[in-house]
Amino acid sequence: MSGRLEVLLSASRIAERTEELAVQIGRDYADRKILVVSVLKGSFIFLADLVRKLRVPVQIDFLRVASYGAATESTGMVQFRMDVDAPVTGRHVLIVEDILDTGLTLDYLKRHLQSGQPASLRTCALLDKKGRRRVPFEADYVGFSIDDQFVVGYGLDFDECYRNLPDVCILHQG
Ligand code: XMP
Ligand code: MG
Repeated sequence: MSGRLEVLLSASRIAERTEELAVQIGRDYADRKILVVSVLKGSFIFLADLVRKLRVPVQIDFLRVASYGAATESTGMVQFRMDVDAPVTGRHVLIVEDILDTGLTLDYLKRHLQSGQPASLRTCALLDKKGRRRVPFEADYVGFSIDDQFVVGYGLDFDECYRNLPDVCILHQG
């Protein structure tokens, strides 16, 4: 599939905003140890940049949910593919996601992890398409609110391509 790419958020803008988020998160958690749970695959680059800017003790785990496949529209169904390794009980859990869209994924994951009785549970999304919610959901930390356009790069894919682009780009199709 080919499409025209337009830079929406440059790598340097993302880096600046990630630094701000890390400062805010560091303040909020003070000396508590955070269990950062990365939602694969889309958040892997954001995760790597964010945790290297955090100045609080951090542990990292991963989980995976099904992606859109080759389409740009959500099926509305969240499919669990891989859970975290260790129990979250009593831990300060911060879920890190690439993009918050309909809200279905983070709503589902929050309920799922909450059932493991963490000491606290918050969410951080690099991008937020606020206009697209199908369930009410607000992330505790948001990098950028964006319009309803399909974006790729900086971890985000279309059909598993473009994840390696350093910028977040709008994918213009057709
Ligand atoms: P929901 O709808 O559950 O979606 O909030 C979150 C997941 O949807 C994917 N998503 C996108 N992926 N470009 C992408 O590459 C986009 O513009 C986009 N919008 C939503 C993404 O996998 C996210 O984890
Ligand atoms: Mg994804």
